[in-house]
Amino acid sequence: MPEKVLVTREIPEAGLRLLEGFDVTLLFERPPTRDELLEAVRGANGVLSTATEKMDGGVMDAAGDGLRVVANMAVGYDNIDVEAARERGVVVTNTPGVLDETTADVAFMLMLAAARRLVEGERLIRSGRWEWWGPKQLRGLDVWGKRLGVIGLGRIGLAVARRARGFGMEILYHNRSRKEAAEKEVGARYLDLEDLLRESDFVSVHTPLTDDTRHLIGERELGLMRPDSVLVNTSRGPVVDEDALADALEERRIFAAGLDVYEEEPKVHPKLLELENAVLAPHIGSATVETRDRMATLAAENLRAVLRGEQPTNPVES
Ligand code: GLV
Repeated sequence: MPEKVLVTREIPEAGLRLLEGFDVTLLFERPPTRDELLEAVRGANGVLSTATEKMDGGVMDAAGDGLRVVANMAVGYDNIDVEAARERGVVVTNTPGVLDETTADVAFMLMLAAARRLVEGERLIRSGRWEWWGPKQLRGLDVWGKRLGVIGLGRIGLAVARRARGFGMEILYHNRSRKEAAEKEVGARYLDLEDLLRESDFVSVHTPLTDDTRHLIGERELGLMRPDSVLVNTSRGPVVDEDALADALEERRIFAAGLDVYEEEPKVHPKLLELENAVLAPHIGSATVETRDRMATLAAENLRAVLRGEQPTNPVES
């Protein structure tokens, strides 16, 4: 009997091809509801999930004793209760390394778009209200030559820092531990979080979401940033307190923000939707044809390895 695999969303063909030979249930383009997930997971030996599925002990128990692997098609795995998986002997895997450059492109795009007011300008054109070129019209902020503060200098943060070097930017960073190789490579200077927020023109957030990083950037931290600074978040929404951010943007305590992630996706804070100085992207950090193929492939390879009794490439430690 082929083993049972649940794929919780429609994923690129590149990943599905690798699952031939298993008894695959493929769910929908949209995220399944909790009830749909609990029903579909029954009897699964492996689950290929995405960031939109909450894979907690309840879902694992609904799968039953045969469940051996949850392979997330994402680098972040805050949607998975890793401890619950460990207790049940279920291996968890993720997809690091294949989306760094693609996500760094989006962080840089948001930096440029927020600083140069691109989306606001596009709204002006599309609304038919662009009447003339003006010497004081839509003045943004220079990006080149400024100071970038990277919070979380892992693979993605470093890829953003490399791009920033090409723009003649100075790199500051804050991380749980010092990153000496990265300090050498991009000339990054380590600061504590408060000093980084005070000294940076642009702050780009690249930490995973954990109990320690939830609301890492809140009212107090935003208060340390300068009125001519820009915040970019491509990590996870709850790392930034959206209420506090919306207030800071509304009161022009910071110049702008570029966001790809939100606290309660796909809901976006109503105030952010109204603000011209918030550039909003719908969680597209890794959304290119090439990278989504790589992510689907890696997730499927990880899942297949565990079901074949082999060591997966990307196990997550609990
Ligand atoms: C996407 O958000 C990911 O974690 O890969």
